[in-house]
Parts: sequence; C-alpha cells; structure tokens
Amino acid sequence: MKKIVLFASGSGSNVENIVQFFQDKQNVSIAAVLTNKRDAKVLDRCNKLNINGLYFNRTAFYKTNCVLGILESLQPDLIVLAGFLWKIPENMIQKYPSQIINIHPALLPKYGGKGMYGMRVHEAVKNNGDSESGITIHYVNENYDEGAIIYQVKTKIVADDTPETIAQKVHELEYEHFPKVLAKLLA
Ligand code: GAR
Repeated sequence: MKKIVLFASGSGSNVENIVQFFQDKQNVSIAAVLTNKRDAKVLDRCNKLNINGLYFNRTAFYKTNCVLGILESLQPDLIVLAGFLWKIPENMIQKYPSQIINIHPALLPKYGGKGMYGMRVHEAVKNNGDSESGITIHYVNENYDEGAIIYQVKTKIVADDTPETIAQKVHELEYEHFPKVLAKLLA
C-alpha cells in the first residue's frame, strides 16, 4: 500500500478530488491532510470524507520538528501540495528528496515565485493578455516553483475570459490530470 500525505491551505477542492480518485484504488491511501489554516475549508472536507485532517502552526512547521515527526509516523511515499501556500522548509526537502510534489495553476516558469498563487496568478495572466495558461506539476526544491517539471498541460484563453473563468478552466485541468499524474508517480 502506497501512502500520500496532502498539504493544503484553503478550499481543498483538489484534495477532495484526489481523495475521491483514490477511494476505490486498493493500492494507494490518503494518510492525512495537513493544513496551516485553522479555519480552512479543507478541514470540513476532511470531516465529510472521513480523512485525517490536522492543523499546524508556524512553530510546528518552521521552528521545531513537530510536522516532520508527524510525517515520520505516517511514512508517506508522496507528499503532495494541493494549494499549499507556505514555503517548504529545507529539512523537509532533505528528508524527502523527489517525494514532494506541487501543483501550480499556470505554465511555469511563467507566473511563479513568492506571492504568486490562486487568483493572483489568473489576474496576471489576464492582464498580460496571454492566449494560453495551464497547470504545472513539479517537484519541490528550496525555491518557490523552481523544481523539475513533471507534467504540464495547456488551455486556451479567449478575449472574453476573466480571471474567474481562467481559474475555472485551470481547475478543470487540475481535477482531470493531477490524480492521474500522482498515480503514475506511485506506480
Ligand atoms: C489550485 O488552483 C492550485 O493550483 C493553486 O491553489 C489552488 C487551490 O485550489 N496553488 C497555488 O497557487 C500554489 N502556488 P483548491 O484549494 O480548490 O484545491
């Protein structure tokens, strides 16, 4: 049995989609969802889905080995960032080289880096008049959004698109491709 631990900071619609994708697969389980936001909607989704949902604060993540200790006890094969907005500390990257995966809602290296997340990304894409956007699934290294790219897929943007409709198109790509890429990585 392969194990995934998910990290999320907000709504967690990708978390829900990933949990549902693996629900009927015998060989992969979601060990837990960890969040840095006490009131994140993702925790409500965990309750609904009967998945372990854990909140941690900055001290637990950056100043002590508390979150690392939780990971050690869960023994994940993959650590998946699904809308997780804090930088991953170096000791975690060293402990899990090539096992931490992030999804970014644009075609990296465009629109990456600190502060580029969620709607901010889609607003920047719209403001630049780009004719396409997409998703990037990549390994996590010590710099925001700079780890090796595993998978990218594009969607067209038309003049009528707004940041909201771009977000919708990108989310659809995420729901379709992210779980499948994770399954491949674990196979
Ligand atoms: C997703 O679109 C994900 O790509 C993005 O946050 C959203 C989370 O949505 N991640 C980043 O921007 C990371 N820099 P969700 O909470 O509904 O899954």
